[in-house]
Amino acid sequence: PSPGWTTRADVLVVGSGIAGLTCALRLREHVDRVLLVTKTELSAGSTRWAQGGIAAALAPEDSPEEHLDDTLVAGVGLCDELAVEVLVTEGPARVRELIGLGARFDTDAAGEITLTREGGHHRDRIAHAGGDATGAEISRALIAQLEAVRADPGIEIIEHALVLDLLTTADGTVGGATVHVIGEGEIDGIGAAHARAVVLATGGLGQIYSATTNPPVATGDGMAAALRAGATLADLEFVQFHPTVMHLGEGATGQQPLVSEAVRGEGAVLVDEAGEAFMTGVHPMADLAPRDVVARAILERMETTGTDHVYLDARHLGGDFLEQRFPTIVARCRELGIDPATQPIPVAPAQHYASGGVRTDLRGRTNLPGLYACGETSCTGVHGANRLASNSLLEGLVFAHRIADDLTQRLAAGELPAVDLHSPMAMQDEGSHGLLDARHRTEVQRTMTRGVGPLRSAESTSGALADLATLAALPPGTAEPGPLSWETTNLLHLGQALATAAHLREETRGGHVRRDHPEHDDTGWAAHLLHVRDPDDG
Ligand code: SIN
Repeated sequence: PSPGWTTRADVLVVGSGIAGLTCALRLREHVDRVLLVTKTELSAGSTRWAQGGIAAALAPEDSPEEHLDDTLVAGVGLCDELAVEVLVTEGPARVRELIGLGARFDTDAAGEITLTREGGHHRDRIAHAGGDATGAEISRALIAQLEAVRADPGIEIIEHALVLDLLTTADGTVGGATVHVIGEGEIDGIGAAHARAVVLATGGLGQIYSATTNPPVATGDGMAAALRAGATLADLEFVQFHPTVMHLGEGATGQQPLVSEAVRGEGAVLVDEAGEAFMTGVHPMADLAPRDVVARAILERMETTGTDHVYLDARHLGGDFLEQRFPTIVARCRELGIDPATQPIPVAPAQHYASGGVRTDLRGRTNLPGLYACGETSCTGVHGANRLASNSLLEGLVFAHRIADDLTQRLAAGELPAVDLHSPMAMQDEGSHGLLDARHRTEVQRTMTRGVGPLRSAESTSGALADLATLAALPPGTAEPGPLSWETTNLLHLGQALATAAHLREETRGGHVRRDHPEHDDTGWAAHLLHVRDPDDG
């Protein structure tokens, strides 16, 4: 079908978390026409759920070099050191600018930002807001900035709009996207947003698993569209499972409540059913070891004790402190009938973050001319095999600036002319590219959880690949086209790429744990797995 409407911009930014909002706001200062498209409401993405904070070497006794060291150690040999250098050296200035824009971080009596610690950090360097509502405050401040310029003709915002596929020329240059606008706006239905460049900032893919801390919108739409258009994805096997997600009982699915690492940063301790503090002796940093180490230790403890969760004991921190420092977590615990001042909180690892994504360089450029990726959607190389706690908001912030600056320069230099597009129309061309009906979503999630979850093996990953291939081979025309089916198809396409990478990497490193290859293998595997879709796959 041909698109029902067309709009044009210099830059199309997709997504409205810290990465997309920052990029759009900065672009608007210099670029004539910016279009920001987001799938539901501006605040619905993962950013607003971020609890612990944003990491930056802000303390006088800290330094970017120490932040770099901690990031490299957490990334288990796979970080791109130049990218980390950019992150940690530009980070502090970007966080101060965020404060200048109106984000209110928690401060002490002297007005200095209070910094806490999280897993893998050797210094207190996590800035937080509202206690444990850091992402919500950052999101509020950025959206307030955007609302203030909403009437500006230089920026257009389309909410409730799912990006389906990238529009490309025959040689792969990206010049826009097809978009399905859901709702009753001036533009509605499927249309084409043409742009000289596209920035994908659509967040992660948590909904590929049955249980995740990610909100329902995290269906990997940007990564999947990039994959279909021929972009290179990297490090997909490095899925981060957060160690302390509230355990709501067997079979709980969908978005699960997080219990921030900052609770451990303030002194809470992981214990098993018998009350044993099992992280002591596992790692010199004990409960504040890097996230992958803690998640693995919990899974091992669960296995040896035959339980499906452990506990986070914060009782000794006291009710008043907990309420004041972690109001969101305490409120959520109470809603679920747990008082963290008197009871340990049941927790278990659950999917939290995609350390991999669309491969970019230090300016956020991908291998496709005109296509950029930012934030969780991207793989800049800063996370390696396991992201350091609270580096994610920072990455979105730092690289969004770099992308906006790069685009500003290139547009001014006439480097990104409007292109003559042939439109792939892949997703809305029902059936021909294997649109998967929304009713199969749970099956994709179960398959990924079982076969490519926190503990993997050749057997589990090949089983998952076979099950996903069966879904991919369903006869054309069996899917009901619409946003839920398009999202489900995105989950399937990414699931296949992720399971392939997890199957190929025969070692254990960071977030990728192979029971059949339990050790690091620096001779064979100290390298990235890149994924490019086979054009014959459609
Ligand atoms: C947390 O608050 O534990 C999450 C921080 C992060 O994901 O980096």
